[in-house]
Amino acid sequence: MPSLPRRYDAIAIFLHWVTALAVIGLIAIGFVMTRLSAGSHMQFMLFQLHKSIGITVLVLSVVRLGWRVTHPTLPLPIAMPHWERVAARLSHAFFYGLLLGLPLLGWATVSASPLKIPTMLYGVLPWPDLPLVSDLSGHGRLAERLGAVHGFGGLFMGGLLIVHVAAALRHHLIMKDTVLLRMLPLLKPVAGPTQ
Ligand code: HEM
Repeated sequence: MPSLPRRYDAIAIFLHWVTALAVIGLIAIGFVMTRLSAGSHMQFMLFQLHKSIGITVLVLSVVRLGWRVTHPTLPLPIAMPHWERVAARLSHAFFYGLLLGLPLLGWATVSASPLKIPTMLYGVLPWPDLPLVSDLSGHGRLAERLGAVHGFGGLFMGGLLIVHVAAALRHHLIMKDTVLLRMLPLLKPVAGPTQ
């Protein structure tokens, strides 16, 4: 058992796991809702839920990016080879890009849709369309294209998530360092080495 590392702070850990759960939910809901019969009540409800969780992820990701910029990330283990450091940094940059870009694309898709279905977050909070994009909503093809890119991006993020989980497990089970432990909630914070 490796010694407990310096850990991420409670806010960073909270944002990480809430976002992770939300993204897994979004991918599952997104996959199901786009395959239900068009116009059904269930499809309508799942779209509203998808939009609600997706906008929540957008807000959380802005907060998270702000937190990350003001609270520097923990260093990677010294023993990590160069290629792995580059891969880790690249995948994290991709995640941030997707966490901001995907909700914005989804929001743009809804705004460009000629169907003009209002978005009501969690059934209570009306959410506006993106102003400039909604002016183009007469062109159904724009919504179709944005939706296709958004959907592809969502599935790509699912793939990246699998690689991310595999890498975390590899650190814990094979390399036996503290990379996973320091992002886990509910462990006692113990000062110590970073690897
Ligand atoms: C991190 C955030 C998000 C993720 C990971 C995500 C993921 C997905 C996935 C996986 C699909 C299904 C793709 C398919 O199987 O074809 C989808 C579809 C969709 N999502 Fe999202 N989504 C996110 C945020 C949002 C937001 C914020 C909105 C709107 C406010 C939104 C609106 C839509 C719409 C309208 C579709 C249907 C697209 C189409 O088929 O034309 N999404 N999303």
